[in-house]
Amino acid sequence: MENYLDQVLKDKAANYFMTVIDTVLEYKEMMLAYDCAIREIKTKFDILNSEFKIRHKRNPIASVNTRLKSNSSLMEKVNRRGLSTDVATIEEHIEDIAGVRIICNYIDDIYKIADAFTSQNDVELLKKKDYIANPKENGYRSLHLIVRIPVFFAEEIRKVKVEVQIRTIAMDFWASLEHQMKYKKSNLESFTEISARLKECAENIAKTDKEMQEIRRSIEGITLKKSEEEIFVEKLKKLDISLN
Ligand code: GTP
Ligand code: MG
Repeated sequence: MENYLDQVLKDKAANYFMTVIDTVLEYKEMMLAYDCAIREIKTKFDILNSEFKIRHKRNPIASVNTRLKSNSSLMEKVNRRGLSTDVATIEEHIEDIAGVRIICNYIDDIYKIADAFTSQNDVELLKKKDYIANPKENGYRSLHLIVRIPVFFAEEIRKVKVEVQIRTIAMDFWASLEHQMKYKKSNLESFTEISARLKECAENIAKTDKEMQEIRRSIEGITLKKSEEEIFVEKLKKLDISLN
């Protein structure tokens, strides 16, 4: 009898252990899919940047930053939203596990790059929030896209959501400072004053972004009379542009 009970308990423990391992592995595979989706999206923007550089002799994208949400931050969000921790629920409700931030030089580049990206066949646009056309109350500006893309594995295709934030260098500069303030909010006496200063900065930055864009367009609009030879040399120079 004792032996039999021992065996049952051992079996129960083994079954429980196997279930835990399966859950952890399922979670690990989910995170792998998000990580791969980040790599795919990064490549898509790198390609758009290279193409643009050869056609127009300038880079619309200054940099691409990516981040996979940390386990602790993911669990904090799941708890805060009162969600259950199974993979299906997380995949359905949490849209920023994979994050890609594109920093552009000019506002018009943001929309050009966003349109070229979302019109690709394998990119499904789920949500678009234009905080540039409609800035947040605090002055935050950025274009946010939630997309879903397929990631191809040996035995399955997983559809993965990615949050893409596209903003100018100046908007990014502002957002990182504002983000720092959020962390100190609880013990910041001069919070109201700083918020007002930040908001004013956001307006100034928006004006500067627009003015820089106008200046660039004016420079581009200057047409010089070129000889046949100069046009030929210009085309040759395009061939010299590095491919990456
Ligand atoms: P979560 O805040 O991620 O739950 O999503 P949401 O539904 O509020 O989406 P939203 O598109 O408004 O914000 C998503 C992300 O954009 C945030 O996680 C931040 O990275 C960034 N963001 C949004 N608003 C602000 C802001 O006011 N300041 C800064 N610095 N970043 C912001
Ligand atoms: Mg977020």
